[in-house]
Amino acid sequence: MKHILFPSLVYQARLNQKPSSLISELLIETRQIRRSDQEGEIWSKKNYPGGYTSYGSLDQLHQLSSTFEKLKTEIDRHVRIFIKDLDMEIKPKELQMTSCWVNVMPKGVVHSMHLHPLSVVSGSFYIKTPKNASGIKFEDPRLAQFMASPPRKKEARLQNRHFVELKPNSGEVVLFESWMKHEVPMNSSAEERISISFNYDWIRP
Ligand code: NI
Repeated sequence: MKHILFPSLVYQARLNQKPSSLISELLIETRQIRRSDQEGEIWSKKNYPGGYTSYGSLDQLHQLSSTFEKLKTEIDRHVRIFIKDLDMEIKPKELQMTSCWVNVMPKGVVHSMHLHPLSVVSGSFYIKTPKNASGIKFEDPRLAQFMASPPRKKEARLQNRHFVELKPNSGEVVLFESWMKHEVPMNSSAEERISISFNYDWIRP
């Protein structure tokens, strides 16, 4: 008998059967947002060198745009499945998207290891993931506690690795608990990698 205790769940799924029209609308709006967001360009220069993110300027896009609101409705469904998988004792309607922003990463841009404090579930929806573009890399949350634990084999199963990079395709959503450390390694594709990230918080009545 064996038990898998304290697993870290990461959810990955296609948004729906035909997300292509939503993706193209989101792409057009992302470009429009970037063109008009001077504050965001300044913020990105300092905090997201070489790329653009609306995290510091426009991080409530689901409340500003009906296209992003449509995306939120789709993601809500997946978040409900995810929290069910996690056996969280929380009413689904109490978990709400509180922030949503866009990220544009040209070649050479990285987003270093971080977590999303104060949220419950975080994730990204992928708009453009060209070949050779970086994925999303997760770090084993127990890493600081391993002490003399030997390294894992190169071909170790995903569940036993200390770092795992997932490579989602365009049209896919990835969800994880907000305390999970993750990064976007350097984008080595000549094309832009474009994603939309979001946080869900526990809104207690
Ligand atoms: Ni993040």
